[in-house]
Amino acid sequence: MRHDHYHRTAWCYDTLIEPFIRSLRPTAFGLFRPAANAAILEIGCGTGTQLAFYRDQGCRPTGIDLSAAMLGQARRRLGRAGLLCRGDAARLPFPAQSFDWAVATLALHEMAAVTRAGVMAEMTRIIKASGRLGLVDYHPQRAATFNGWVTRGIIRCIEFAAGRRHYANYRHFLASGGVPSLAEQHGLVMERQKWVTGGNIGIYQLRRR
Ligand SMILES: C[S@@+](CC[C@H](N)C(=O)[O-])C[C@H]1O[C@@H](n2cnc3c(N)ncnc32)[C@H](O)[C@@H]1O
Repeated sequence: MRHDHYHRTAWCYDTLIEPFIRSLRPTAFGLFRPAANAAILEIGCGTGTQLAFYRDQGCRPTGIDLSAAMLGQARRRLGRAGLLCRGDAARLPFPAQSFDWAVATLALHEMAAVTRAGVMAEMTRIIKASGRLGLVDYHPQRAATFNGWVTRGIIRCIEFAAGRRHYANYRHFLASGGVPSLAEQHGLVMERQKWVTGGNIGIYQLRRR
C-alpha cells in the first residue's frame, strides 16, 4: 500500500476543512435525490462525514479510501453502519453494476491523471444500468465575481499547503477541464450541474450514454 498522505492531518481534517464544505452535502444531495435505500459507493470517503449524511437520509453507504488514517476517523464516526474498505479506487473490489450511485466529493482533483482516468472507468463499471455518478469538485472556469476570486485564492493556498504532488494534480485537473472534460472522455452524459462557492465548485450528475 502507498504512503498515507493524510497520516498527519486526518485527526484534524474535520475541524479544519469540514466548516468550509459542510453545505456541499445537502446541496449535492438535493440535486442528486437518490431513492430511499439506494446503494451508494463513495470514492475517497475520507473521514466518513458524507457517508454518515447519506446514511441519515436512508441510503445504504459504502466507502473506499486509500488512507488508513482517514478511514480510522470514518470507522469511529460510522461504527457498523456502513461498509468501509481501504484501497485504490482505480481498482474497485466490487462486481460490475452493483451500486445505484457512485459519488466522489473533492477527491478526483487530488489524483494523478492516470489514477483519475482509472477511477472514472471503475465508477462507471460498478453502477447499474440505471445508476448515476454524482461528482463534486473544483470547477475549471474563471470565477465571475470578486468573492469567487477570493475563494479561489483561498482554495489555491489550501491545495498548495497539501504538498507538491497534490498541488500539481489539482493544477492538472483544472487545466484539463475538470469533470466536464472527464465526462466527455468517458462517454458519460451530463444530466445536471450546478455551481456553488462563487463558481469554484461544481456539482455534477452523470449517467452512461
Ligand atoms: C479531500 S479528501 C475528501 C474526503 C471526503 N470525500 C469528504 O467529502 O470529506 C480526499 C480523499 O480521497 C482519498 N483518495 C485519494 N486518492 C484516492 C484513491 N486513488 N483511491 C481511494 N481514495 C483516494 C484521500 O485519501 C482522501 O481521504
